[in-house]
Amino acid sequence: MKTSNGSFFMGIPKVSLAFLTVVIMFQQMILGSQEPACHMNDLTALKGFAKCLEPDIGGWNWSSSNCCSFTDIICDNSSDIYGRVVGLELGNKRLTGTICESLVGLEQLRILNLSLNSLHGKIPANLFHFRNLEVLDLSNNYLVGPLPSAIHLPSIKYLDLSKNYFSSFISMRFCTSSSHIQYLDLAHNFFGEGSIYLENCTSLQYVFLNGNGLSGTFPEDLFRLQHLRVLHLQQNQFSGPLSYGIGNLSNLVELDISLNDFSESLPDVFGRLRKLESFSASSNRLTGLLPASLVNLASLLRIDLHNNSLDGPIRINCSAMAQVTSLDLASNNFQGPVPASLSSCQSLRALDLARNKLGGVVPFEFRNLNALEYLSLGNTSINNISTALEILQHCKNLTILVLGLNFYQEEMPSNVNLQFTSLKALIIPVCHLRGSLPIWLSSSKMLQLLDLSWNSLRGSLPSWIGKFEYLFYLDLSNNSFSGEIPESLTGLENLVHKTALLKESSEHFSLVKSKEQGRPRLAYNDVWSFPPTIDLSRNMFSGPIWPSFGNLKNLHDLSLEENNLSGSIPDSISGMTSLEVLDLSRTNLSGEIPRSLEHLSFLSVFNVSYNRLYGDTPSGGQFMTFPESSFDGNQALCPRLLAPCQRKQIPPVVSPGKKMKIVDWNFGIGAATGFLLTVFFCFKSGWVLPKGRVCRY
Ligand SMILES: *[C@@H]1O[C@H](CO)[C@@H](O)[C@H](O)[C@H]1NC(C)=O
Ligand SMILES: *[C@@H]1O[C@H](CO)[C@@H](O)[C@H](O)[C@H]1NC(C)=O
Ligand SMILES: *[C@@H]1O[C@H](CO)[C@@H](O)[C@H](O)[C@H]1NC(C)=O
Ligand SMILES: *[C@@H]1O[C@H](CO)[C@@H](O)[C@H](O)[C@H]1NC(C)=O
Ligand SMILES: *[C@@H]1O[C@H](CO)[C@@H](O)[C@H](O)[C@H]1NC(C)=O
Ligand SMILES: *[C@@H]1O[C@H](CO)[C@@H](O)[C@H](O)[C@H]1NC(C)=O
Ligand SMILES: *[C@@H]1O[C@H](CO)[C@@H](O)[C@H](O)[C@H]1NC(C)=O
Ligand SMILES: *[C@@H]1O[C@H](CO)[C@@H](O)[C@H](O)[C@H]1NC(C)=O
Ligand SMILES: *[C@@H]1O[C@H](CO)[C@@H](O)[C@H](O)[C@H]1NC(C)=O
Ligand SMILES: *[C@@H]1O[C@H](CO)[C@@H](O)[C@H](O)[C@H]1NC(C)=O
Ligand SMILES: *[C@@H]1O[C@H](CO)[C@@H](O)[C@H](O)[C@H]1NC(C)=O
Ligand SMILES: *[C@@H]1O[C@H](CO)[C@@H](O)[C@H](O)[C@H]1NC(C)=O
Repeated sequence: MKTSNGSFFMGIPKVSLAFLTVVIMFQQMILGSQEPACHMNDLTALKGFAKCLEPDIGGWNWSSSNCCSFTDIICDNSSDIYGRVVGLELGNKRLTGTICESLVGLEQLRILNLSLNSLHGKIPANLFHFRNLEVLDLSNNYLVGPLPSAIHLPSIKYLDLSKNYFSSFISMRFCTSSSHIQYLDLAHNFFGEGSIYLENCTSLQYVFLNGNGLSGTFPEDLFRLQHLRVLHLQQNQFSGPLSYGIGNLSNLVELDISLNDFSESLPDVFGRLRKLESFSASSNRLTGLLPASLVNLASLLRIDLHNNSLDGPIRINCSAMAQVTSLDLASNNFQGPVPASLSSCQSLRALDLARNKLGGVVPFEFRNLNALEYLSLGNTSINNISTALEILQHCKNLTILVLGLNFYQEEMPSNVNLQFTSLKALIIPVCHLRGSLPIWLSSSKMLQLLDLSWNSLRGSLPSWIGKFEYLFYLDLSNNSFSGEIPESLTGLENLVHKTALLKESSEHFSLVKSKEQGRPRLAYNDVWSFPPTIDLSRNMFSGPIWPSFGNLKNLHDLSLEENNLSGSIPDSISGMTSLEVLDLSRTNLSGEIPRSLEHLSFLSVFNVSYNRLYGDTPSGGQFMTFPESSFDGNQALCPRLLAPCQRKQIPPVVSPGKKMKIVDWNFGIGAATGFLLTVFFCFKSGWVLPKGRVCRY
């Protein structure tokens, strides 16, 4: 789920919040050290409020009648409302239960923060009638229902109801009474069916309406909000063209309208948005050229227009847009060539032009892109991989390079002088590249991910392939590599010791190529999870499966299918305790399936079909969950549930009902552990490049 990404700007209201708190505390100091006794009304209100909560709020001692001494409660120390509760700071206190009506008794409340709890149910109607309330944060709970129809919060400045289950606005005409509101966050709710009337909220600076299923055209009343700095409308169903009215929002710093259904061309009004730093309109149905005012906008730092139908040349004017750091124009109909002028964007750190009809070669001038860390030119019909690599090696900060689906049938350059010292991910699949695994790769000591699958590379794998300290994802599938699998692979540091991977998790990227039914899906997504993988399938490798594969405790996916191996499956490979996928089908293996594989409790895909295996089929652990087809085509392998092996005998009748039950039960466990593991792993490793990045080839 995408979250609002305005941390820098969002900091500003927090500052004023802190200021407010400081002011309140300062007033208290002036009044000296005497602690105010809490007002009886407030004590009653708090008691009622606390009754609806579980567990008790630690630090609220009901034997004491002075609620001002309770933790997380702020009382006023100034003379006129001395001893009244003005702040309730109960964010992230693991509270469950509901918000009781009696809370409304805290009539002097200025700050109410109940965010990041597990509160549920509807909110009391009168909650929106606090005369002095300035800050209301109910975000990240399980609150439901429509908002109260009458809203009277004349002092409200900051209202955050995001990440709840609120539904339609009955009336959001609240700016007739709440005209001072500066910050409004309604993101990630179900406000889709209501309407929002914000035309009179002229003080609004921050508006988050993303993730609500809102529809209709761009809400025109927003164009009157001259102070707007951040506007997030992404992940809704807004449609129609973008109106010229956007030009009215001359204070806008951040505009995100991605993941909607906006169509037609972008209005040429960006010249009036002189403060705009970040513009995202990805995944809409925008067409036409890039407006001149957009490509000349000096303030812009980040542009994300991927997955639209924009066309014409990519004519970013780097002289005007000197500060731009991130440019994502992938998946459009832009036409080539790859513009050499982009090399003047000296701050560019991420450039994604994948899936456009560019053609030509990587421009010579790209060698000057000194800040470039991420480059994707996948599926852009460019040619000459030798030239591309010669040039790009000069980009000393290049970390991720995606060039797949280009260079049809060219030769992989073997030039020993090529050097990519910062490279962490090299992704050049589906190019029909000829040649061998290039020696220059061995100097990329930082390499974590290598995908050269679906090419026509041949020869044997050199032993240096196992010497990368950080490599955890190796996909060389569907090439013509031959010879033995280098034993050094079984010593890959990052697959033997999890620690190296954890260390890497503080770095800035991760990648995954997901497989759908065994076939790679040719897209890398922006929320990347990545199972540690060795995929050497569909080559011509010979020789044994080394017993030392068992050392790869951190390996999740070992795919060796369709090779011409020899020998048997070593017992020791059960040492790969994290293994989820083990595919050894069509590898010409003989011998028995080691029983010890039953101990691989995360194994969810197992295939040894079409080999020359014999003996018992293990049936413990995850084995009952694997389909018969996992074992097909092994003449002498006994079916499961026959122990001891009664080769060439008719299997005894097993009551189908009973068998099904066992299968179901085991499958449940297997699927659940597999899923948990995946989730766990995603969490552990799921951090990415600067936000909004999409890496595809
Ligand atoms: C609660 O307040 C009473 C009365 O002020 C006091 O005697 C008692 O020690 C307090 N209990 C705790 C746990 O602070
Ligand atoms: C009011 O002042 C007293 C004494 O300085 C202090 O203990 C108390 O926390 C203050 N109230 C608030 C709301 O901070
Ligand atoms: C509310 O409390 C949470 C948790 O302490 C905090 O992260 C958040 O910034 C607070 N909200 C406001 C508006 O201060
Ligand atoms: C905005 O204010 C005008 C003038 O006070 C009023 O006529 C109009 O109804 C208000 N609109 C909304 C949506 O509150
Ligand atoms: C632009 O702002 C002006 C001044 O507030 C306002 O009169 C005008 O209606 C706005 N334009 C649109 C399209 O809302
Ligand atoms: C591309 O955008 C369309 C909407 O225009 C959306 O349905 C689709 O999921 C997007 N595809 C990707 C890969 O983001
Ligand atoms: C590019 O920007 C520079 C500096 O703002 C300007 O002088 C030049 O005319 C622009 N070029 C084009 C083609 O718009
Ligand atoms: C490559 O790009 C073409 C259009 O330029 C598109 O039709 C095709 O699906 C893309 N291939 C992949 C695998 O993304
Ligand atoms: C390259 O990366 C290093 C280390 O992250 C950084 O200090 C340096 O500024 C970067 N170079 C450029 C030109 O951005
Ligand atoms: C690539 O470009 C270089 C330099 O222009 C040229 O010598 C070489 O023949 C080209 N290779 C291919 C495969 O086009
Ligand atoms: C192997 O790669 C070729 C392209 O090089 C592709 O056409 C073919 O479908 C792939 N085969 C398998 C089984 O993945
Ligand atoms: C597989 O390897 C064996 C030797 O181990 C060899 O005799 C056989 O021809 C190979 N088969 C293929 C299809 O390469």
